[in-house]
Amino acid sequence: MTRTPVNVTVTGAAGQIGYALLFRIASGQLLGADVPVKLNLLEIPQGLKAAEGTAMELDDCAFPLLQGIDITDDPNVAFNGANVALLVGARPRTKGMERGDLLEANGGIFKPQGKAINDHAADDIKVLVVGNPANTNALIAQAAAPDVPAERFTAMTRLDHNRALSQLSKKTGVPVAEIAKLTIWGNHSATQYPDVFHAEVAGKNAAEVVNDEQWLAETFIPTVAKRGAAIIEARGASSAASAANAAIDHVYTWVNGTPAGDWTSAGVVSDGSYGVAEGLISSFPVTAKDGKFEIVQGLEINDFSRARIDASVKELEEEREAVRGLGLI
Ligand code: NAD
Ligand code: LMR
Repeated sequence: MTRTPVNVTVTGAAGQIGYALLFRIASGQLLGADVPVKLNLLEIPQGLKAAEGTAMELDDCAFPLLQGIDITDDPNVAFNGANVALLVGARPRTKGMERGDLLEANGGIFKPQGKAINDHAADDIKVLVVGNPANTNALIAQAAAPDVPAERFTAMTRLDHNRALSQLSKKTGVPVAEIAKLTIWGNHSATQYPDVFHAEVAGKNAAEVVNDEQWLAETFIPTVAKRGAAIIEARGASSAASAANAAIDHVYTWVNGTPAGDWTSAGVVSDGSYGVAEGLISSFPVTAKDGKFEIVQGLEINDFSRARIDASVKELEEEREAVRGLGLI
């Protein structure tokens, strides 16, 4: 019997992340090797032709799991029946743009998209926001979707998580497959806090293995937190394949669960855990089971971590105040 395909909506489909993402979704890497998918691509009018070109290439791959591609510039059409929505398209910061301008411009994208999700998506909709500023864009979309459970809106910090895994692996000489329980806290921005104090490296406490607070403070944390800017500087464009890879990881984990004895990081709605103001979409250590993320509870937070978590959460609160002031939430 043929399975009903899962409807996956991707916004910003003609952009560079879209190009790195769509083929992997269609090949089964987003949801599973036996899960058929239908792609709904949302672009602005200027992006439609390029999205059509990508759709031609998707056709030419003859992916057995791909059961259709629709392309539109209307969010109400793109999110109709969506089970998974990857909100990638966003307004980048351009020269001379203040932070408030950026939030306002993105509000013009994420508010109507949140409303379209509210009105047209499937009951089991899961939303991942990739487009920056990802946490606050997710908050805007979530606020515009009062009929959708708030926890279905998430923001991507899996790329930061993967970056931290890789840096810790290089430092310790232990393969990433043997590193567990790393955490990214806070905002997907330079204030984020990659935390190794509960992480395990080949079964041993990572902070004890590293045993070098100076390296943590002066090398590890800034390298992870400023990696996005370093890639823009080196490539002349922001990370694309690694961002698409992290989006795949985030949704795959959300749907299929975290491995026993490990957790991951995701921007999820705060329930007030760890002193993070309720309602913010902030990165936490999370497990996933039965299609739900849960914040890992009961971790002891030392002074080193506390100050850094608080600083990133403060930035999220300021962003929330700014979008509230603009009437976006
Ligand atoms: P890009 O400029 O190559 O592509 C963005 C695409 O979005 C363009 O094709 C554009 O036409 C489209 N778009 C713009 N407004 C839209 C709208 N209202 N509806 C539908 N489509 C729309 O950018 P990119 O490199 O693909 O990056 C996309 C976003 O992801 C950026 O905001 C970037 O900063 C962000 N990003 C986030 C992370 C993360 O870890 N969270 C990592 C990398 C990049
Ligand atoms: C990244 O972390 O690579 C991106 O968020 C950087 C950016 O500003 O697009």
